[in-house]
Amino acid sequence: MIEFPPELIRYLTKASRVAVLTGAGVSQESGLRTFRDAQSGLWAQYKPEDLATPRAFARDPKLVWDWYAFRREATKGARPNAGHYALVEMEKNIPEFTLITQNVDGLHRMAGSKNILELHGNILNVRCSECGMFAETWGNDLEFVPRCEYCNGLLRPDVIWFEESLPRDQLEAAVQATRTCQVFFSIGTSGVVHPAAALASAAKAEGSVVIEVNAEPTPLTSKVDFALHGKSGEILPELVKAIWKSGM
Ligand code: APR
Repeated sequence: MIEFPPELIRYLTKASRVAVLTGAGVSQESGLRTFRDAQSGLWAQYKPEDLATPRAFARDPKLVWDWYAFRREATKGARPNAGHYALVEMEKNIPEFTLITQNVDGLHRMAGSKNILELHGNILNVRCSECGMFAETWGNDLEFVPRCEYCNGLLRPDVIWFEESLPRDQLEAAVQATRTCQVFFSIGTSGVVHPAAALASAAKAEGSVVIEVNAEPTPLTSKVDFALHGKSGEILPELVKAIWKSGM
């Protein structure tokens, strides 16, 4: 049983506007590797920063395509964990709840969260790198990167790469939710990749209560009001139970 500071419980019980930012850590207990975890197997020799960029795709589209195909397969086998479901429960109890995620694994949606902003896209979708059309299906031909049926451009994962700008509408909605919330959670993110990493500071500047739930301290830890260190799949269900005493 986790003991939470009484003032944290009080803030959340009274809150009607909450914004949550999640990162790869919230999917770690679903068996998905985080970005700062060392890569494994044949991908151990690469850093995500060297693969998830437009230049890497231009230089070697097949290498980048294969990395995402590998990650897509891992994602397909993953299921939401107790942390994802606790956030679904939280959304049911908070009138204005916005879930902003950097994750591309689609697990928040699978768990049942409704108001989601996928800042970095979704790995299960594929679009043309030229005309932007979404591809319903694509060959699993291991020889070549599949091509667009409309313009013959190379297909690419529908995720935001380093050096690419985030979808404007999603980012604007995330900033708006961050600015108007009373409580802001930063969950399972190392808080190093902008602009997502700036949201917590923006919330703090607007007078929100900022809560970090993360396995280890981050650059954000010293600035938050409450730092809950541990596994999100353990902390979040306990927090929801402590406040809404639902049938968690
Ligand atoms: N519960 C809570 N936190 C966890 C857990 C867990 N079970 N497991 C790991 N963590 C924490 C780690 O301690 C780390 O601080 O989650 C954080 C994950 O950080 P990153 O691996 O950097 O992932 P993230 O912050 O989502 O990366 C942001 O960077 O690579 C880009 O676009 C990519 O969306 C990604 C962005």
